[in-house]
Order: sequence, then C-alpha cells, then structure tokens
Amino acid sequence: MCGIVGFTGTTDAKGILLDGLKRLEYRGYDSAGIAVQNNNVIKMVKASGKVDNLVELVEKNKDIIGNSGIGHTRWATHGVPSDVNAHPHMSTDGKFAIVHNGIIENHAEIKAELIAKGAKFLSDTDTEVIVQLIDYYYKGNLKEALMKATARLNGSYALGVLCADSPNTIYAVKYSNPLIIGVGAGENYFASDITAFINHTKNVIDLDDGEFASLTPDKVTIYDHSGKEIKKEERKITWDVAAAEKSGYEHFMLKEIMEQPAALKATIEPRIRDNKIHFDELDIDIKKYDRILITACGSAYYAGCVGRDIIEKLCKLHVHTEVASELRYRDPIIDEKTLVIVISQSGETADTIAAIKEAKSKNATVLAIVNVVGSAIAKLADYAIYTWAGPEIAVATTKGYTTQVAILAMFAVWAAFELGKINEKEFEKYTEEIKKIPERAQRTLDLNARVKKLADKYYQKRSMFFIGRYLDYAVCLEGSLKLKEISYIHSEAYAAGELKHGTIALIEQGRLVVAVCCYEPLLDKIISNIQQVKARGAEVMALAMEDNKKIFTEADDVLLVPKIYELFMPVIEIIPLQLFAYYVAKNNKCDIDKPKNLAKSVTVE
Ligand code: AGP
Repeated sequence: MCGIVGFTGTTDAKGILLDGLKRLEYRGYDSAGIAVQNNNVIKMVKASGKVDNLVELVEKNKDIIGNSGIGHTRWATHGVPSDVNAHPHMSTDGKFAIVHNGIIENHAEIKAELIAKGAKFLSDTDTEVIVQLIDYYYKGNLKEALMKATARLNGSYALGVLCADSPNTIYAVKYSNPLIIGVGAGENYFASDITAFINHTKNVIDLDDGEFASLTPDKVTIYDHSGKEIKKEERKITWDVAAAEKSGYEHFMLKEIMEQPAALKATIEPRIRDNKIHFDELDIDIKKYDRILITACGSAYYAGCVGRDIIEKLCKLHVHTEVASELRYRDPIIDEKTLVIVISQSGETADTIAAIKEAKSKNATVLAIVNVVGSAIAKLADYAIYTWAGPEIAVATTKGYTTQVAILAMFAVWAAFELGKINEKEFEKYTEEIKKIPERAQRTLDLNARVKKLADKYYQKRSMFFIGRYLDYAVCLEGSLKLKEISYIHSEAYAAGELKHGTIALIEQGRLVVAVCCYEPLLDKIISNIQQVKARGAEVMALAMEDNKKIFTEADDVLLVPKIYELFMPVIEIIPLQLFAYYVAKNNKCDIDKPKNLAKSVTVE
C-alpha cells in the first residue's frame, strides 16, 4: 500500500517523479504528491485523488523545478484522503520533506512528546511524526538524525527523505516495507517497485530491513542499521519496460489476462525435464511432514483452496487451508512436522508475513509460492518457488492466480511421486497433462468475444451466484471475488450442494447463477443443482468442458472450455470468469485497474 519514488540526476525531476507515480498508482490512489529540491529550498505540491490531479497542479505551478525529488501515491491509513494528509510531509521549518509507505504504531505518543517541545502538526497522519522527529534530531548530520529518529519508530516504513541542506541528495530507509534502488548513469532512483523506474534503468540494488542509503547523481552509498557503510551487489532486471506498460490494451487487467499462456509457460516449462517435474529450489524431504497447511489472503488463498484439493487427492496427505489474517489468532496446530505453504503474488502482504512468523515460531518449515523476486515473503520463507508471471499491475490478480494454481498442481504431482503415492508412469502422465496447460490457456482466450457478449447480456444484474462442486467450487470463490472487486456487483460463491440449506431463499426470477461444471465426475450433481435454481426462476450461465453436450439442455448460456485432466482444469476454467468480470465492470464503467478502496499490495493488517 502506498508507492514511493525518488530521483536524483541532472535533469528536472518532476516529470520522472510523476511518471514513476503513475506506474506505482496500483499501490494506492487516494492522493499523490511530490517535493523537489533546488538551491537549498524544498518545494512541494500534493493533491487528493489520482496522480492525474497532481499532474494538473504541477503543470500550473512553475516553482516546481529541481534535479532531485521524492514522490508518493497514497492508500490512506491514518487520516482521510485529503490534500493535507497527502504526502510528502514537511517539517515545520521546511528543512525536510518525507514520503512514507507503512504504518507507525507509536505515532500518538511521539506526536504528544514533539508537540510539548513546540512542533506544529498539520495532518492526521502517522507519517508527520517521522519528519518532525528527524528535524528534532538534526544537528547538521542527517545520517545521525535518520538513525536516531528511526530508532524511535515502531511499525513498518519505507521512507524517502529530502533535506534542504543536502543538494542533489535523496535518502531512502527500509524497514519491513519494500524499497529498491535503481542505479543509472549519472542518475539514481529509489522506489517501492521496479516498475517506477524500469524505463530508465534495469540495474537494481535490494535494500534489506534496517538498511538505508544516500543517493547522489553519481553515487549510491548504503549503510547497515548501525550506520556502517556496506557494499551490496547489483542485480539486473530481466523483464522489459513493455511488461509494465499497457502495450495497446485498454487496461492492465485485460493485458494480464491475455498474458496468461506466456506466464504459465514461463512458470511450468523450466521445471519440466525428462517428462518429470523438478523443483530444483526445493531441498526438502516431503516424507518428514504429516500435514500441510496452506495460508494466504484473497485470491492467493483461493488458489490455495484449489491446491488443497489437488494435493490431498494425489498425495493422500492432510491439507488444511487458513486465511492468513486469521491464522495467528487461532492458536493453530502447527509443529515441526507441518509444512506450511504460503502463497503471495506481491510477496509483501502483511497478514501473510505475520502467518509465516507464527508458523516459524512453531518450528514449521515454510515454503513460499511467490511472484516478486527478493520480496519480504521470499526472504522470510525457508524455500521460495517463484511463479514467473512477470509484473502484475492491475489490482485484480489474474496471471498471478493462475500461475500459483499451476505451481500447486505441479507441487502436488511432484510430492505424490516423492511420497510413493504415484508410480513413475503416472508421474510422467500427469507431467504430460501439466505441459498442456499453456496451450489450453491460449485456446481458452478464444472465448473472449463470446464472454463479452454474455457480459453485455448480464452486466445490469445487481447480484449473482457462482456455484460449483469440489474443485469447481474453489474456482467459484475466485470468480466471484473477481466480479465483486472490479464491478462492485454483489456476488457469492457457493458450494452448489449447500444452496438448499438456506441460501436458495435468495434465488428468484431473473437471478443470474454462474454454474461451473468442469469437474466431470460430479457433473450429474451440479446438473441437479442447476435444475433446483432454474425451477425458482434463475437464469443460468454454465461453464463446462468441451464435448459436454448435456449442459446445453440445462443452462441458458454455455461456455465450453478446452479439456485437460480434471484435476488441472481450475487453471483454465478461471479464465472465462476473469474475462466475464472484466467486461461486466467495463460495461458498468468501473475503474477496472484501480477499483475503489483497494490497493495491490496490502501491507497493513
Ligand atoms: C485479488 O484480485 C486481490 N488483489 C487480493 O485478493 C490479493 O490476491 C490478496 O490481497 C493477496 O495478495 P498477494 O498475493 O500479493 O499476497
């Protein structure tokens, strides 16, 4: 939540900062602001609402000139989204400006202390205490002031700091929130995410918690928590700027839906050799564990629900799922014989990080399925399996989710073989099916035009149900979330057999029920459930495997999905539901990539 960016170079900073903020806007879009430094004076401009509002203000403000600066796009935590609560925040004397991603838990007590010492606060944010604290401790040595100030803070923070006394210099501090340095030629950057500066440089340095850096156009100096200068290795980003741009698509979400065959290929293919699945990154003896616990949030959790069903089926091992935001409050049964699988696209989700800490405190082994290389979750876990989905910008995950499900399916097959639950021939047979996934995903995208038509037919419905059984139900959870989060239309995912235990009371004339019928062993069961809702006036849009003739006599509309082995169907069958949510939201004129109240990385509890 919240994106920060900093630049120092020899050109005017504002264009670079505004461009960086636009690229970071997926992290929060309640307000935005920049501060630049020129001739030992800091100038700042900020505005509530999206970055476009800020761009308009900056264009009108001729004072905003300087070769170094910082910027922020906000997802509000403390204080309403408003101009005054927007970042940057400045010290009373105008000497410092800061941008902050994170939360300061002890801000109230620090604020009271500083007010007693004469500081004047303008905003309701927790962040303002940081800049006032830096100012309070500053006696001419900023490094020292930064260390003293941050030593007082409880919580999480990635900070960007400008000091009027330090021309052409920007400072960055990282603790528990992402911050990456971009190393350019005669110019340097920091940002919450590489996408902010990928069009300028692909050379990056990852900061670790407790580290901080000072950046001038020619030099990046990094310090550890004790203030000692340290050397850190640079790494090169392998993906291209186009991956972080819309490339002609109207929305990132549609682009990312279309990228799924390629993302799945990149995730699956490198792990297949000699017709077998290999996880070179996993050096574990799976026989050591008597249970698996899968934990994550939102869509990643729903991917975990699919994974639970596949792993249990193939490995004959107890697999439990638990939302990460609840895990630590349930005193869960976890011990050294538990393999905890955490799933996260961003690798930053606060609740998932807390779940990892809980699991580790109980001596479990933690395996993370994660998309962002070097992210907090990848580092905290004992093992990390990367999904190679590339950057995902739309708030609603698509390729992040499908690549997670693909990894879980592969893990299930791999673990089943390691556990002796399947023989070599079966291992090869399942691997062969997994290999088909990218091509099947490509063919599923051919449904695009048909799904659009169905969205045109149904987009005015104000409530919908997604029903399915077993694996299809797990997919319904994600299909329903997709629709809710981007179209703001109420929808519920229901295990089809449960409807009759109460919820069927909500089925009435014209209610849309999306019936996911891809798991063919239970086809007759879901058909009965379709008949039950149709008898009460529902309209039914069904999703089924190609060659399914039966479904046409049951449903009002049918989408046929290319066939693959039934346990791996979830990777494919979610794609039409993603497209459906997309076109329904588009017809309802929703802000698809930046849905209201949401942010891409949820770094608060
Ligand atoms: C899904 O579209 C959402 N963006 C959300 O549910 C997301 O999956 C969840 O917040 C977890 O995020 P993570 O994968 O980055 O941990």
